[in-house]
Amino acid sequence: MEPKKILVVFGTRPEAIKMAPVVKELERHPQEFTCVVAVTAQHREMLDQVLKLFAITPHYDLDIMRPGQTLEEVTCRALMGLTRVIRECRPHLVLIHGDTTTTFAGALAAFYQQIPVGHVEAGLRTGDPYAPFPEEINRRLAGVLSQLHFAPTATARENLLREGVPPEKIFVTGNTVIDALLATVRSQYEFSLPQLQGLDWAKWKVILVTAHRRENWGGPLREIFSALRELVRRYPQVVVVFPVHYNPKVRDLAWEILGGQEHIILLDPLEYEPFVNLMARSYLVLTDSGGLQEEAPALGKPVLVLREVTERPEAVAAGTVKLVGTRFQDIVEAVGRLLEDPEAYNAMAQAVNPYGDGLASKRIVKALKYYFGFSLTRPEDFSSSKGL
Ligand code: UD1
Ligand code: UDP
Repeated sequence: MEPKKILVVFGTRPEAIKMAPVVKELERHPQEFTCVVAVTAQHREMLDQVLKLFAITPHYDLDIMRPGQTLEEVTCRALMGLTRVIRECRPHLVLIHGDTTTTFAGALAAFYQQIPVGHVEAGLRTGDPYAPFPEEINRRLAGVLSQLHFAPTATARENLLREGVPPEKIFVTGNTVIDALLATVRSQYEFSLPQLQGLDWAKWKVILVTAHRRENWGGPLREIFSALRELVRRYPQVVVVFPVHYNPKVRDLAWEILGGQEHIILLDPLEYEPFVNLMARSYLVLTDSGGLQEEAPALGKPVLVLREVTERPEAVAAGTVKLVGTRFQDIVEAVGRLLEDPEAYNAMAQAVNPYGDGLASKRIVKALKYYFGFSLTRPEDFSSSKGL
């Protein structure tokens, strides 16, 4: 049989991190697959950081990012650009990831060209169309447009089954983010950034912060940032390290409220390697990110999630992740409890790994072999494993 052409589509930092292991694994199977990478570059610098780290040179780069872009602009530019790519490349299957605008546009472009779609990180749901916004709807739409669903966990599989997806179309693979994490985090690591190089990890309790969700823009971000100021004021042993997303809606407010504050280190977005190694050395993580809710539990780091709901309930059930919302008082109290009460801290600081065992991309490629008839064996489903 001729190799099947797989077009891998992504555009933002988290998609790139989570698709890189899949690209690498596909490239290890040239007899069965020809892997073609198309990036929308919905993100530019933050995407390029990841492409460089994993040494991926896209075959197509649509370069669509514009400062302060709207959802509509990204959707139209990605849909038009990806349609041209799919027409030219004529893949046997398009692989998309997660829940961004690139994800949805990629699935729709493939559907219009009648090319089957495989959805990586399928089946995550909060049940609330506006939280996270617009990701909850992006992933549902992507699901409707997909023929193959790579669910990271059994819970995600259940969500898809409830929506009527046939069981034979779902593969429980684990999340490829753990593949990337295992390949990147190290017990010995030298930071090259001066602000991190000089940090005494034994002396300081480092709180790693990220925040960027659309539903937190404005008032909620103001409360979060004010809470950070209050925490470094109350707890002299705390240093906040916050690599600030390039989105001007986040960046401008972060610098307005936190710029120049003692014990608050504002950074540009970090490359993935220093970032996960920073996470591995932090005391706790405060975030509204999806990916961090998966990575930090694997490293045994408590995560306080700056949201009202999460599509990742597994680590909440395991006790490593708690939802704290975005109110000033709730954040200060929840972080304060972990700083003051060692028992509360230790109960959360347990390495658990409900999201993967580092073999997700292997399972995805095995599933593709099975789908295309290169193999008669369906890959075994992932079931949760212990932390790192
Ligand atoms: C996007 C995704 C979100 C994902 C997040 C990961 C959508 C609707 N949102 O949100 O699901 O969680 O990425 O970070 O798909 N910018 C730069 N350089 C970069 C990246 C962004 O300058 O490398 C700035 C630009 O001004 C850009 C803005 O950030 O217009 C917003 O980027 P966009 O991708 O539209 O939204 P995110 O908030 O990053
Ligand atoms: N990340 C990174 N540098 C940073 C912040 C995050 O490499 O400065 C990584 C992080 O390890 C995770 C991913 O980016 O794998 C999360 O991306 P983001 O929070 O932007 O998106 P989300 O996961 O919320 O969609």
